Amino acid sequence: MDLVIRNATLPDHTRADIAISGDKIAAIGTDLAMKGRQEIDANGDLVAPPFVDAHFHMDSTLSHGQPRVNQSGTLLEGIALWGELKPLLAQEALIERAMQYCDWAAARGLLAIRSHVDVCDDRLLAVEALLEVKRRVAPYLDLQLVAFPQDGLLRSPTAFDNLKRAIAMGVDVVGGIPHFERTMAEGAESVRLLCEFAADKGLRVDMHCDESDDPMSRHIETLAYHANRLGLHGRVAGSHLTSMHSMDNYYVSKLLPLIAESGVAAIANPLINITLQGRHDTYPKRRGMTRVPELMAAGVDVAFGHDCVMDPWYGMGSGDMLEVAHMGLHVAQMTSQEAMRACFDAVTETPARILGLEGYGLQAGCYADLVILDAGSAIEAIRLRAPRRYVLRRGRVISRSPAARAELNLPGRPEQVDFRLGQ
Ligand code: FE2
Repeated sequence: MDLVIRNATLPDHTRADIAISGDKIAAIGTDLAMKGRQEIDANGDLVAPPFVDAHFHMDSTLSHGQPRVNQSGTLLEGIALWGELKPLLAQEALIERAMQYCDWAAARGLLAIRSHVDVCDDRLLAVEALLEVKRRVAPYLDLQLVAFPQDGLLRSPTAFDNLKRAIAMGVDVVGGIPHFERTMAEGAESVRLLCEFAADKGLRVDMHCDESDDPMSRHIETLAYHANRLGLHGRVAGSHLTSMHSMDNYYVSKLLPLIAESGVAAIANPLINITLQGRHDTYPKRRGMTRVPELMAAGVDVAFGHDCVMDPWYGMGSGDMLEVAHMGLHVAQMTSQEAMRACFDAVTETPARILGLEGYGLQAGCYADLVILDAGSAIEAIRLRAPRRYVLRRGRVISRSPAARAELNLPGRPEQVDFRLGQ
């Protein structure tokens, strides 16, 4: 074997050794007899498949403050600010920002990202730039691109043509933003047009859908309807779905089984939803994240996405999907043992399924893409936003980080603090 990782704790709490040959996992099980040319003793630390971000905007990331900061911190000022920045974008600068973010991602064990790319700039400069980034990072990070008509498919006169051009250039997924169209009817029409286009081309769909506190924003119903009608089960995702937070409970009791039946996945973005929604409320203020545990209970795949890092909408973040899971756990009150573990799945296995990643996972035959964390369990990893001791891509260590320990100088107390309890 090229590499054997000993004494790993897996996300399901079992112990195992992991043997790696070339770029694949050759065997995984207890007390493997095979020897590795290189061995790593995980010493009971968590070993997981890499983090996956199902919802991101790499064209705007790390642009915070350009050309000015978002004074109100609201979604609409963010969209307006992005509109100011778009004509000023330069390809090399955009590539450089995205590459820097991918460095952060790799160091955090985040090795697959689905990024929306705005196609409402007739130059398609961001599309060209991110296709170049996708090519450059391919050896260590799977970047999947979504053609995103930020200014509205029907509201922006050239958006649909631009979206088709972007797909022809190599963008992977069809995006949309029905709640931003001029009317509910045009929103529904945009969903129909985009789903039919995707079905015709054999592509996946991921729409910004109902990113609003308006309980009457019901485009998810239309998205589920067309996914079902066109046989797109398992290939469509609704991102955000924040209006579901404010919807009437009776209506949601009808909606949840419709979403499950259509095989549409949900992608919540807890860091962004908790900061951008509920902004027109006084008190009580709504949380504005979609109904994550209820969707999961209905059998819907639910992932947590990062959405933004240091851009017109959000001046925080560092590519850490454990921070995303941590916020999602709190906002959704997912504090049972099972629910906390589900929050870990929402930034690993579930988004991998939504993206359709091949060879992802912890079985023999999967790619040897692994993260060894400074934590004893998936729940502890979330609690500590644990350092990634080792990040492996295709069997090769691509990043290392020190464990989180503090030197202590207190009378009668240990000299070193370890925040782990192993649970
Ligand atoms: Fe987004």
